[in-house]
Amino acid sequence: MAQLTASQRAQRELAPVRLTSEQLAEMRRAFEEELVKGLAMHKKHGLKWVPEECSFRMLDSCVASVPTGDEKGIYYALDFGGTNVRAVRCELLGGGKVKSQQNIKNLAECGGALDLMARDTTASQLFDALVECICELVDNNKEAEYLKRNPTKLGFTFSFPCVQAALNTSVLEAWTKGFATGYNTDEPVVGKDVVTLLTAAINRKGLGVECAAVVNDTVGTLLSCAYQKQPSTPPCLVGAILGTGSNCCYVEPEAAAYGYTGSIINVECGNFNKRLPLTPVDVIVDEKSPNKGQQLFEKMISGFYLGELVRLLTLRIFGDAAPAKVKEEFSLDTKQVSILAAAAVPGTQGSSATTAKCKATIKECWGWEVDDETIKILEDVAFAICDRSAALAAISIAAFSDRTKSLEAGGGLTVAVDGSLYVKNKWYGERIKQYLKDMLGDKASRLVLSAADDGSGKGAAVCVAAVRTA
Ligand code: BGC
Repeated sequence: MAQLTASQRAQRELAPVRLTSEQLAEMRRAFEEELVKGLAMHKKHGLKWVPEECSFRMLDSCVASVPTGDEKGIYYALDFGGTNVRAVRCELLGGGKVKSQQNIKNLAECGGALDLMARDTTASQLFDALVECICELVDNNKEAEYLKRNPTKLGFTFSFPCVQAALNTSVLEAWTKGFATGYNTDEPVVGKDVVTLLTAAINRKGLGVECAAVVNDTVGTLLSCAYQKQPSTPPCLVGAILGTGSNCCYVEPEAAAYGYTGSIINVECGNFNKRLPLTPVDVIVDEKSPNKGQQLFEKMISGFYLGELVRLLTLRIFGDAAPAKVKEEFSLDTKQVSILAAAAVPGTQGSSATTAKCKATIKECWGWEVDDETIKILEDVAFAICDRSAALAAISIAAFSDRTKSLEAGGGLTVAVDGSLYVKNKWYGERIKQYLKDMLGDKASRLVLSAADDGSGKGAAVCVAAVRTA
């Protein structure tokens, strides 16, 4: 049998990645069924997650109401949950206005000689590094002494699955997104209240802030959008993160009937695991992760994994013709994937400048000098992976939007979206909108996707403010 060309092998590998509308419709049905099961699970078992009953954790955010935009005051926020750590000083001015200052660091920078994600790193080492990021911001503002005399409330955005019995306590159930901090130490983070860990680190530094609320980044994004949005835009009832990780929260119309304290549910839908059309590379990505068998949906959508999926497909397509560097795990990052994918978006005119940029990207990550045919294949692979991510993200947004019952005639809702994948790639958002139109028909016109401007950080501050004025 004649050997397949690289281009033919690419078609063979990409066929299962390109999902048909029937496959998407079937997944959406399964996703919606899971949501119904999740509500029933919460009603029956309260705070306890029973994975056999539902793959979503359906966590109570303990946030009872969406802010009005009138909240005022100065608050600090700490945002931790992926590639970056961000300390924010927010001045809420009322009328939906916020003045904010930030100290953003990537995780590697924040940890210095320590790998903050590693299993040998202890909980105190991680939380000391996080608090140091706040201290720098406080020092930049020469506010340390003032805060000691006038302790200020801090909102903590902690973007991992946590059980909350109240707004100011939050027990980490499991790490995601490649984190393994504390696993090999006698100071773990999993199973602990992150407010206690943060407070201990704050006290070690003698910083004058007090953690008053913990929110997931999806919840923070929803709250921040609700605070800042124009009164003329429809209510913000869904929050989505499409970044290093992926997840959604939404305002459940019958939250109290299902036993919730708050009305916003952090679904943790990244753990969805029904009817997923997993390909061989999805299986490898999962097997190599520290949380094997979990977050399968997230592993098909979010930035932490897209580079790996593209890299593994590249190996399958090019085999030994690919240089050894392609065998190195995590040698391609999401930013590089986005550059390649952008060149293959349907309807875009490829230019020689775009091709040159893509070739330079491949040279940079893999030291590979590729010809025109090879770069075209790599662009197609990157696009297919990102487009599948957009389609799956659309499934979740469609399902939660429908569930709020605000898409009926005369209604409308805003979906707040944060995360680098969405915020930094316009074409990715356009693909989500196209999929939403295919899935929701006319109803899609009543749905506004709003890119949050540092939603997750500001949201925690807004949450503290809303509680204080309640
Ligand atoms: C976490 C969620 C988070 C999402 C986006 C997931 O890995 O489990 O809690 O909202 O990432 O950051």
